[in-house]
Amino acid sequence: MKPVILITGATRGIGLAAAKQLVARGAQVIIGSRDGKRAAEAAAQVGGGTTGVALDITDQASVDAAARQITQQFGRLDVLANNSAILLDHYQSLLDLKPEVLLETLNTNVVGTLRVSQAFVPLLGKSSAPRIINVSSGAGSLNGGSQAWAPAYCISKAAVNMLTQQLTAALPDVMVNSMCPGWCRTEMGGSNAPRSPGEGADTLTWLALEAPHSLRGKFVKDRAVIPW
Ligand SMILES: NC(=O)c1ccc[n+]([C@@H]2O[C@H](COP(=O)([O-])OP(=O)(O)OC[C@H]3O[C@@H](n4cnc5c(N)ncnc54)[C@H](OP(=O)(O)O)[C@@H]3O)[C@@H](O)[C@H]2O)c1
Repeated sequence: MKPVILITGATRGIGLAAAKQLVARGAQVIIGSRDGKRAAEAAAQVGGGTTGVALDITDQASVDAAARQITQQFGRLDVLANNSAILLDHYQSLLDLKPEVLLETLNTNVVGTLRVSQAFVPLLGKSSAPRIINVSSGAGSLNGGSQAWAPAYCISKAAVNMLTQQLTAALPDVMVNSMCPGWCRTEMGGSNAPRSPGEGADTLTWLALEAPHSLRGKFVKDRAVIPW
């Protein structure tokens, strides 16, 4: 039976690259996007039976509708990849950071990730080996020293990592992990990044299909556990 995998924010970048890798490995992929038409176009581009779903992670009604659609179409979910995120404050100093920018960033990257996870827990419960992958970032690590870059984004990814730990405790039967794709050439990462989107997506694909289900509550990069 093909694993059914939902990737949020997968019309471009690391999410789209992961969709291609997973389909090539025989998975049934569902591509999420705020724009249902773009989701369908990306799904057609990926091929292999991939489908698209309108899914705005900041909108409860949109998330609930997506969960209903996937329930009707597939009846279960094996992997939820929480890949959607925004980066609004590239080089802004913390001292100039507007609270509204921090709130908007947290609303998408943290609250949105929780909202989607909560909505899909019942469908994940229909899987024999359910997995949640939270696409985080080394920028949210508390181990690497302080960074004077994108404070709202970094704070949000540190919170995503704690969300991973909280979900791990709340969902004993689900394999939940955070991962860092490394700095990749995407709309978010820019053209100077050393990695391709496919290289960034590799760990996501590994966590979705290959990593042992006993690997839980960890922060993973390049298929290896890294410090929080
Ligand atoms: N690129 C890097 O160097 C890098 C490094 C470390 C971590 N990451 C992480 O990797 C993940 C993917 O990043 P990327 O570089 O591929 O970024 P990207 O090209 O900017 O793609 C981000 C995706 O997020 C989606 N998105 C934004 N707001 C959304 C919302 N409210 N609801 C649903 N989807 C939303 C967008 O989808 P739609 O516009 O179609 O809705 C878009 O496809 C992110 O979590 C990012 O933080 C990236």
